[in-house]
Amino acid sequence: MAQATFRIWRSQPGGGGALQDYQTEVSEGMVVLDAVHRVQAEQAPDLACRWNCKAGKCGSCSAEINGRPRLMCMTRLNSLNLNEPVIVEPMRTFPLIKDLVTDVSWNFKVKKTIRKITPRAPDAPDGTYRMMQEDIDRIQEFHKCIECFLCQDVCHVIRDHEAHKKAFAGPRFFIKLAGLEMHPLDAADRTPFVRREAGIGLCNITKCCTEVCPEHIHITDNGIIPLKERMADSFDPIVWLLRRFRGMRKDGA
Ligand code: SF4
Ligand code: SF4
Ligand code: FES
Repeated sequence: MAQATFRIWRSQPGGGGALQDYQTEVSEGMVVLDAVHRVQAEQAPDLACRWNCKAGKCGSCSAEINGRPRLMCMTRLNSLNLNEPVIVEPMRTFPLIKDLVTDVSWNFKVKKTIRKITPRAPDAPDGTYRMMQEDIDRIQEFHKCIECFLCQDVCHVIRDHEAHKKAFAGPRFFIKLAGLEMHPLDAADRTPFVRREAGIGLCNITKCCTEVCPEHIHITDNGIIPLKERMADSFDPIVWLLRRFRGMRKDGA
């Protein structure tokens, strides 16, 4: 059976750490998570790594593979150059707990600050709602998010500026906010939140978040850019008046 080298980040007691090489057998169909599990089983039983579904759906196994944020369970070994060591490191943007496991709890704190959906009054005499299918289709994409936080990891605004964690929600939450702002039933005004607390102005649309999303969500084109446009629109008194006449719908459709 073929062998490959995995250069994996190991924490050291008392802080710090180093990359350590492990050579292990590899076979057809394996993904990086399989290799990490084999190293755990055969050589390093104390190697910490977080995973759950092994199907790209739980968002737990996020790491940096050869410097790129990816899901370990969805990165096939045949997509990597196994003539070189495969470097497996924890996400750098979040505090390290141990080895490949990081503390992503900051993201859940941000999520709690976002106002939940606030339904407008029913628009039919029987107390039900009418919605356009296209309005639902437009936000459906955002619900595919598995909260792997790879987009948060790669975003330079968060990664390079620890202070921005207090003033910037990040791409995962921009698509959540976009989904709420475009929702045909929602009546809440999150404009001040999106501008101030979520700090959308700090995003300079580099699209790095879109490039790493394992769910292929068009984070920037379909989420962030329309959200930025809405924030700009909300200054326009004519747009505001038109929306009032159209029955408080926020999407102007
Ligand atoms: S497009 Fe914006 S949110 Fe996405 S990575 Fe770039 S700066 Fe961050
Ligand atoms: S938007 Fe994509 S990359 Fe970001 S947390 Fe959701 S699934 Fe992960
Ligand atoms: S183990 Fe669930 S996404 Fe990888």
